[in-house]
Amino acid sequence: TQSSRPVVLIAEKLAPSTLEVFGDEVEVRHVDGTDRTALLSAVAEADALLVRSATKVDAEVFASTNRLKVVARAGVGLDNVEVPAATARGVLVVNAPTSNIVSAAEHAVALLLSLARRIPPADASLRAGEWKRSAFSGVEIWGKTVGVVGLGKIGQLFAQRLASFGTELIAYDPYVSPQRAAQLGIELVELEELLARADIISIHLPKTPETKGLIGADQLAKTKRGVLIVNAARGGLIDEEALADAVREGQVGGAGVDVFATEPTTSSPLFELPNVVVTPHLGASTGEAQDRAGTDVARSVLLALRGDFVPDA
Ligand code: MLT
Repeated sequence: TQSSRPVVLIAEKLAPSTLEVFGDEVEVRHVDGTDRTALLSAVAEADALLVRSATKVDAEVFASTNRLKVVARAGVGLDNVEVPAATARGVLVVNAPTSNIVSAAEHAVALLLSLARRIPPADASLRAGEWKRSAFSGVEIWGKTVGVVGLGKIGQLFAQRLASFGTELIAYDPYVSPQRAAQLGIELVELEELLARADIISIHLPKTPETKGLIGADQLAKTKRGVLIVNAARGGLIDEEALADAVREGQVGGAGVDVFATEPTTSSPLFELPNVVVTPHLGASTGEAQDRAGTDVARSVLLALRGDFVPDA
């Protein structure tokens, strides 16, 4: 009967394929995860909760339910889920750790290329009725030294793609061995050295207490003058104010930024600067990545609700 099926609460927009995986084994309900009151009351009746990056799944959420068995993050980062609070209540947390890694890496490349060739301002200028070829001279990627900060799955995919542009690749990652990096054709260096040598820097780190604010005014002052910086990882890894100052002073030649310390946001000192390309956290926003994220977590949620073992994706 209807009432005996487990209740799956979907708190953000997920790909339609997610629902196909659930079929009619569960009862699917929807709530706006950013509406706290609605979320807290709906979660009290849910066996599973599915979110993307906008819903804060914290101790307060876990305190409003005895029924919840599993929280699923349809994506990679778990920074919006308080995992220790979930564990303390016996709630399983699952994610889709490979679902959107290609999309995220491709988006970082897209930001870099639009920055290097000044595509957004040139597009805006031509649409505004101007034909200004000399105003939008760019730089080549070929022959440049690219510093990858964080050589996990996404950082590696980004590096592979940049290798095909004919770049010299260096990376900083305290958890990767120099041997592994060398296999990938990447020289592992300390952060200080990366800052000093790179013409292009791209950040590919999770947001943790250790990585928050990793790149601030002091680090930006140590970069090559005119460096291009891309962040399609998490807001707050680079200090936004310091980055805006460095772009204004010309220390940083340009920045491509997909993620912000506070999201959603419609104001940032970066939005006023012409050498900055911004997007509203779109790294994972492709049809393919969203299909994978939704179906991967839906499969894990079904296993968890059946009481079966949930393998790491
Ligand atoms: C992630 O952590 O996977 C991304 O932030 C994805 C998203 O925006 O849903």
